[in-house]
Amino acid sequence: MVVGLGYVGLPLALAMLGSGRHVVGLDRPQVVERLGSGSSHVDDVSDEQVTLALSGAFTVTSDEACVSRADTVVVCVPTPLSQAGAPDLGAIESVGRMLGEHLTAGTLVVLESTTYPGTTEELFLPLLEAGGLKVGTDLNLAFSPERVDPGNKTYGIQNTPKVVGGVTEQCTKRAVDFYAGFIDTVVPARGTREAEMAKLLENTYRHINIALVNEMARFSHELGIDLWNVIECAKTKPFGFQAFYPGPGVGGHCIPIDPNYLSHTVQTRLRYPFRFVELAQEINSSMPGYLARRIQDRLNDEGKAVRGSVVLLLGVTYKADIADERESPAVPLAVKLLAMGADVRFHDPYVSRWNAAEHSEDEHVLIGEDDMRSAAEQADAVVLLQSHAAYLDGALDGLRLLDTRGVLAGDGVERL
Ligand SMILES: NC(=O)c1ccc[n+]([C@@H]2O[C@H](COP(=O)([O-])OP(=O)(O)OC[C@H]3O[C@@H](n4cnc5c(N)ncnc54)[C@H](O)[C@@H]3O)[C@@H](O)[C@H]2O)c1
Repeated sequence: MVVGLGYVGLPLALAMLGSGRHVVGLDRPQVVERLGSGSSHVDDVSDEQVTLALSGAFTVTSDEACVSRADTVVVCVPTPLSQAGAPDLGAIESVGRMLGEHLTAGTLVVLESTTYPGTTEELFLPLLEAGGLKVGTDLNLAFSPERVDPGNKTYGIQNTPKVVGGVTEQCTKRAVDFYAGFIDTVVPARGTREAEMAKLLENTYRHINIALVNEMARFSHELGIDLWNVIECAKTKPFGFQAFYPGPGVGGHCIPIDPNYLSHTVQTRLRYPFRFVELAQEINSSMPGYLARRIQDRLNDEGKAVRGSVVLLLGVTYKADIADERESPAVPLAVKLLAMGADVRFHDPYVSRWNAAEHSEDEHVLIGEDDMRSAAEQADAVVLLQSHAAYLDGALDGLRLLDTRGVLAGDGVERL
């Protein structure tokens, strides 16, 4: 059984079907209703895959009573940040309480939601045990970080190694056996905390390295050095270097959020800051503001003010060739340009209606341009924010634009 059928839970539930199991997905009524009608809300899963699965061994429901019939429960609910920037474990807590009421002896429970080290044993375990069953004797409990990379055509659930850490050795063994049924390589961790922190190390590593090249992009521009060419040269070293690329900022559900879980833990438990994370945050979150200034400079070179100028943003999702807009740096960039008086327009093959507002209570809805070329020709400034395939292979040839991804070349192209 999978609790939470989002970007992580839905593909996982379908992958489990491959091991010959009957899989039940539990989610809120509106999600269940949509999936039940054969409509997928996740980029990597098609409507056809959902319909096919539902005609076989996959069931979706909002009925919590089905927990008592599950031999394995995998939890993939969201772990966002609160308004104050602290971890919001509300979904994990409510699922933990619900499971405590319904679990039966012999069940394996695995938490997959990204969270700070200690969550599985300090917060989740007591909620499960509130129903009277004990972890280690009546129940098995483990943590296994999700490594889904939406849109990745090479690495999916089956061929991405899975880290698993249980509360006891027996918990780890049972969780390893479970995942080995549909994943090629399962890696046992020493315990739940090591498995929890492995995920945070992976994402913090990306966050910091992206910040490094973002900072370098700024001074490379001033020094007249093509940083993308620098990276191409550096990555020919066959060991000790992994290429990261600059861009308009970081987005998605993981990189801007997960490192906060770790820095929050270090700060609250040990009373000192995790300085690498704080610096990376400062640099990455300042990129939209830096980009707004670069757009202002371009307009200025043409004798134009930002106020009243038409600025066309190409690609507003956080990642190329997916429709996920969560935490996209396109939003803070648009907010800054709007505040400067620009007439902001956008085009994105994956988004037709876009709310260019930073807070959910605000609304600044923009409708996407249908004809990208004619929109670009009417704009005073064109900015490539996302390297969707539709923008490559000559689609933007001849246009004057600011390329924040380093994927275009030609006379009219200025790189970040
Ligand atoms: N999206 C990614 O690329 C990615 C990658 C790795 C890890 N993660 C982590 O995986 C976890 C899930 O992320 P996601 O992207 O799948 O989130 P999501 O928002 O796409 O999906 C979460 C699902 O859980 C459901 N849900 C919330 N509360 C629930 C409850 N009490 N009972 C039942 N269902 C409930 C929601 O309705 C939603 O369908 C997060 O901790 C995230 O950090 C995400």
